[in-house]
Amino acid sequence: MKIAICPGSFDPVTLGHLDIIERAADIFDEVIVLVMSNVSKKPMFSTDERIELIKRCLKSDNVKVDTFDGLLVDYAKQKGAAAIVKGLRAMSDFDYEFQQALTNKSLYPKCETVFLTAKGENMFLSSSMVKQVCALGGDIDSFVPAAIAEDIYKRCKGDF
Ligand code: PNS
Repeated sequence: MKIAICPGSFDPVTLGHLDIIERAADIFDEVIVLVMSNVSKKPMFSTDERIELIKRCLKSDNVKVDTFDGLLVDYAKQKGAAAIVKGLRAMSDFDYEFQQALTNKSLYPKCETVFLTAKGENMFLSSSMVKQVCALGGDIDSFVPAAIAEDIYKRCKGDF
């Protein structure tokens, strides 16, 4: 069975993330969406909240959600994962993603990083952009699934 991991901070999950996750689910037998901490980011949603938001949006039966605090490759080893799947948007993603892919490959050569190109309409979309637009009173309905938009609006207003 070919297992793939889609890692990220998902704070919050966007339509761009979900497109990559669902496409990975068409390619691999099982996909694990792995909610992790990015040391350079302070999250708006707790890990449990991010997991719950993702679960609400998933469609495919072969996609699971998990969390892990350590190195991504240690989790990949534990699960016997064949691949780490990441989305690539503009060239601006490339340096950062390439560095991570090479680091992960040298730490655990058995696991490949597979890049899926973001859809045209998601090329500019990121969780940070969603939070910024929302915090400044903008409309995020075309960036995140309807099932979670209200949670983000409320958090930006400080309602919960
Ligand atoms: O969605 P993000 O914030 O771009 O995701 C980045 C993430 C969480 C995938 C990355 O920071 C990560 O892999 N963190 C786990 C720690 C780790 O394994 N670091 C070494 C790989 S560079």
